[in-house]
Amino acid sequence: MIKLIVQNKLCCWWGLLILTLYSATSVALDTISSKAMGGIYPDYPVIDYGTGEQSEQIHRGEYLVQIGNCIACHTDAARQIPPFAGGPAIETPFGKFYGSNITPDKETGIGHWTEADFIHAMQNGVAPDGSHYFPVFPYAYFNKLTEQDIKDIWAYMQRVPAVKQSNQPNTLPLLLNWRILQIGWKLLYFYPQQGILKYDPDKSPSWNRGQYLVEGLGHCAMCHTPIDILGGPKHDYHLTGNFIDGYWAPNITGLALARSSISDVVQVFTKGRLSLGAGIVAGPMAEVNHNSLSKLTETDQIAIATYLKSVESKQPIELDLVHYQSTSARGKMIYEEACAICHQEGQAGAPRIGNANNWKSRLKKGVSILYTNTINGFNSMPTKGACVTCTDDEIRAAVDYLLSRSLTVAQKRQLLVQTKPKNPLRSGQKIYDDYCSECHKSDQSNAPRIGDVEAWKPYLRQNMEILIAKTIQGGYRKPPNGGCADCSTSEIIEAVKYIVQQSSTDGDYTKW
Ligand code: HEC
Ligand code: HEC
Ligand code: HEC
Ligand code: HEC
Repeated sequence: MIKLIVQNKLCCWWGLLILTLYSATSVALDTISSKAMGGIYPDYPVIDYGTGEQSEQIHRGEYLVQIGNCIACHTDAARQIPPFAGGPAIETPFGKFYGSNITPDKETGIGHWTEADFIHAMQNGVAPDGSHYFPVFPYAYFNKLTEQDIKDIWAYMQRVPAVKQSNQPNTLPLLLNWRILQIGWKLLYFYPQQGILKYDPDKSPSWNRGQYLVEGLGHCAMCHTPIDILGGPKHDYHLTGNFIDGYWAPNITGLALARSSISDVVQVFTKGRLSLGAGIVAGPMAEVNHNSLSKLTETDQIAIATYLKSVESKQPIELDLVHYQSTSARGKMIYEEACAICHQEGQAGAPRIGNANNWKSRLKKGVSILYTNTINGFNSMPTKGACVTCTDDEIRAAVDYLLSRSLTVAQKRQLLVQTKPKNPLRSGQKIYDDYCSECHKSDQSNAPRIGDVEAWKPYLRQNMEILIAKTIQGGYRKPPNGGCADCSTSEIIEAVKYIVQQSSTDGDYTKW
């Protein structure tokens, strides 16, 4: 299982030192996180922008600070610390870190700094006293900024209210001596790309802007790129997905986003909707949206989406299936390469392989729903279980393997007998009248109204399996199983067929 994450070769002795210290814990899987979750997000302070040119600069600086999401790591909203006066604990495998007080307070903040000190810190990760910062402060990304942008950020930071609030000391294990880490991490983080990004004249201005935002200020790779044993990003696998705070920050390279339009990606930021109907954005990304991406201009949001859709990385799972003749051998291989990372130990809330009770209750939905859910993504499980290079058939084979390793043949057979509905099947119309009409009869709760052909058009562009899976899954303002707890899957299918048939002028959905 670890194979997938830790395939980078360790090069240096300090790597081995840390490896030895941490080999007992699953180092690679937990990483730098922007905490303060639980839905308590900080607010930007009200400030005086001054007038004229100065005011323009401060406004620019404020916008840049929003893109960089500095507030997330430098404001512990849960402890009611004022903006930028000190962040929540950031847990890493190497200890706990706290974003410093960066308000202009002379004693406890950065009020005694010069502009040059600030530029040096942002570009090189070095403090005015010459000591090195830990790379949890994303200077390895901020060093791609133009000097003018850093100056604008400085202008803004000087305007936020000064707050007297002492910094909390970082807590590092005793054995990890500072100097070793500084040198080690610097090598790791600054390689291979540093300095201001070059403008690529062969690409559009929007693409270039997107690259600047994603690779620089936005520091998206900090969460979305898998890390090696030292917490450094695995550059070959840039943006192909990683765990963060128990959430999966999915693959956002071009291949993974191929089925999503630019506007689908923009809606992740503006509406908090995951692409391919995979639900509502949760966890750390919800905070990134709140503090940062939802505040961007539409032009910048489109630029980010444009760039992401162009990113080509080595995919973590490059299957060589040619040697695997039988379906079960394929299923096993795909499971080990792609699914075990979550399902072996139950990462990110995934049901464990071998947990018969859990799989029994899931199989009650019917195996075809399990296939559909895995292919489309289901709650916090990413589309195709994060294996963007897998075909639908390969995913089905992996589901079969998971089930075969979790349930005996006898258990499966018994389950199929049990799931035959005890009561005779209720008709789609009856289910609709009793449960669905509450929302779908009027425009209540934004549900598409039954019979409203125009309202249903966008939904009907998706195939029926997806409409059914989404109804069973539920979502924002939409209860699971359409609010009918005791409906069987067959009954929900009938109800969806009924609603759709009443709301479309072409196609005969009753035959589905
Ligand atoms: C992912 C979390 C994170 C983000 C995002 C972040 N920082 Fe920090 N920052 C930190 C941490 C942690 C430290 C302390 C590092 C250390 O102790 O070595 C720090 C330190 C600093 C310092 C040094 C302060 C001092 O007293 O020495 C400055 C200045 C700073 N950050 C500015 C910013 C700005 C400006 C932004 C946004 C453009 C930003 N940071 C975004 C985590 C973050
Ligand atoms: C603090 C960690 C973190 C940072 C920083 C972060 N993300 Fe995310 N992102 C996540 C997580 C976690 C998810 C999955 C959310 C979920 O499943 O509800 C996600 C989801 C997404 C998605 C949805 C993908 C899909 O298939 O629907 C997109 C797009 C995205 N992030 C883009 C970005 C961009 C662009 C940036 C940088 C500007 C960024 N993220 C920075 C953690 C992060
Ligand atoms: C990033 C973590 C992750 C990966 C990788 C992953 N899964 Fe999952 N999977 C989950 C989680 C979490 C759930 C439970 C979702 C829920 O019930 O809310 C789940 C649930 C499932 C289910 C049950 C779906 C249902 O309708 O109840 C199946 C089947 C499944 N996964 C198969 C797979 C297969 C096959 C793969 C590999 C191709 C895979 N998973 C890869 C996290 C993952
Ligand atoms: C509490 C309100 C509510 C109830 C009850 C309800 N729905 Fe919905 N339904 C919604 C909303 C809101 C949407 C639009 C969701 C969206 O656009 O994201 C929706 C969308 C749908 C869709 C379109 C697919 C999708 O995006 O989800 C189908 C199909 C559907 N509902 C079927 C049903 C059926 C069948 C029932 C009864 C078994 C039902 N609904 C009960 C609120 C409800």
